[in-house]
Parts: sequence; C-alpha cells; structure tokens
Amino acid sequence: MGILIFTDNPGVTETRLVLGEARARGIPTGLIAPWDVSMPGVPEVDADLVYVPSNMLNRGSTFELIHRLLILQELERQIGTVINPVESMLRYSKEHLTLQMSRLGLPHPRTLVTENVERAYEFAAGLLDQGRNVVLKPLCRGRGVGVVMLDRIRSRGDLLQFLAWYTRAHAQGVFYLQEFIPNQGYDVRCMVIDGEVVGREKRSNPEDFRYNVSAGGLAEPFDDPVYDELAVKVAEAVGFKITGIDVLPGADGTPYVLEANCFPGYTALIEATGIPIHERIVDYFQRLMKK
Ligand SMILES: Nc1ncnc2c1ncn2[C@@H]1O[C@H](COP(=O)(O)OP(=O)(O)OP(=O)(O)O)[C@@H](O)[C@H]1O
Ligand SMILES: [Mg+2]
Repeated sequence: MGILIFTDNPGVTETRLVLGEARARGIPTGLIAPWDVSMPGVPEVDADLVYVPSNMLNRGSTFELIHRLLILQELERQIGTVINPVESMLRYSKEHLTLQMSRLGLPHPRTLVTENVERAYEFAAGLLDQGRNVVLKPLCRGRGVGVVMLDRIRSRGDLLQFLAWYTRAHAQGVFYLQEFIPNQGYDVRCMVIDGEVVGREKRSNPEDFRYNVSAGGLAEPFDDPVYDELAVKVAEAVGFKITGIDVLPGADGTPYVLEANCFPGYTALIEATGIPIHERIVDYFQRLMKK
C-alpha cells in the first residue's frame, strides 16, 4: 500500500521533495524507472497509486514512447490510478491545449499547427503583414526552449529560410505558430492540484519576451485569485490532476492561456511564495488513498 513513483529522472528536486514528504508521513513510497520494467509482465506492485513526475513519453524515440506508454497502461490497469492520467499524458502537447481552448471558446492567441511549410509561411506572413508578431514553439518541450519570435525577419525569403531551419532545429516536422500577444510585462503561473489553485506566481523578464524562470525570469507571489476559475477550467479540459497553467494578461486585460503543463516545475514557486507545493501534492495523494 502506498505510492509508486515511476520516473526516468529521479534526481529532479520536485520529485525528491515529494518522495521525502511522503516517506516523512510514513507512506510506503517506492521509485522505479522504465528500465527497471521488462515486458511482458509488469511486476505486481503493492501501491494505491502511481505518480509520474517526468515527461518520459516525449524525451526519447517513438519506440521508447510506445514502450513506456504500454508500461503505463499496464500499471493503470493493475493499480487503477496514475497521476496525471495516462490518456492526458499521451495527449500532452500545446496542440491539445489549443484544441481545448477553441472547444471551450476561451481566449487563446491565434494559432496554427501544421506539417505544411507553405501554410506555416502564409500564416506567419499574414500576421507580419498586419504589423503583428509571430511566435514559433516546439509542440512539447517546456522551459521556453525553442520558443522564438519572428521579429528580425527582413524579407519573405528570410521567413522561408527561417521556417526550414526551425523545423530541423526545434519543431521536428510540426510547426506550432502563434500570434504574439502584446502584454503587460508578466505572465501568471497557477498551480492546480485536484481542481483547486494551490499557489500562484507572477513571472517577468525585462530582457526577454519569454518570462520562464528557467530563461532568467523573476518569480514573485501573485495573490489575486482573478485567474483561478479559468485555470481550473483549463486543467479539467486537458485532463490534468496536477498542472501548472500559464496565463498571459494581454495589454487590454484579456487573459490568454498559453500553456497547461503536465509536469510542472515548482521550486521557483515555493521559493517565491513559501507555499509547500510538494506537501499539497502528498495531501492530494492521501485523499486518494482514503477513497
Ligand atoms: N503568443 C505569445 N504572446 C506573447 N508571449 C508569449 C506567447 N507565447 C509565449 N510567450 C512567452 O514565452 C513564454 C514561453 O512560452 P510557453 O509557455 O508557451 O512555452 P514553454 O514555457 O516553453 O512551455 P511550458 O510552459 O510547457 O514549459 C511564455 O511564458 C510567455 O512569456
Ligand atoms: Mg510556459
């Protein structure tokens, strides 16, 4: 009985915090990696739930993805609860967020996801012609890596060359293009656990349009619950039980949701606010175990 942490990256601070907290509360907690499991025959595990705190489906080859997905599905079948749910983990992508935002009619920047370089070109050129800016992002990377703005493109030829370079360097064949939203100089990360916002931080960076703390941004507490309802709605729509929802207040005040993180980091949030997010996660696991 207890928790099984399944991860390919056990040294991450957040994972160590959760492991330490669970064990300090006397909850039997084990840790295994994908390479500890051979198929067929996922080991019989005596746990109430499986916690997957690392993005293990999106780091390796397609073969690793399928192998790890099948292990996760076996674990979900055997134990019942995987956090985040396996289906939500499998769909984790900025594209899924974009689809859900459009389905719910919530504010989201104009976005195009395509394998077609000509369509990518037309979308970007159309926005640039209107005097707007365009952001390109990898579908599933995080920490601001590969998120670039097309603000130094001087000619249509440059644009095409840039798109060709970008897909090789970052996009791996799928373009995710988005209108740049003029904003108030910060975004807000809402940490949602089990349908409730448990902490918020405001992130800014005078040096960069990306406000990620890992890209040098500054994190400060944000006490206003104004985006909580939106964040909870988005968490539910993408199916995440533990998630960080990034909201960008536009220059006119409209809150644009940029990201729903399946594997949110929260050490900066703990440092900025003093809220022990790892304890809130273990509280949630204990509620699940009582059910
Ligand atoms: N459309 C946009 N308009 C204005 N700023 C943007 C836009 N998209 C991204 N940004 C800025 O870039 C940062 C990084 O973008 P985003 O959150 O989409 O990717 P990421 O942080 O790499 O992914 P993840 O949130 O999964 O870690 C945002 O926090 C925001 O500051
Ligand atoms: Mg982000």
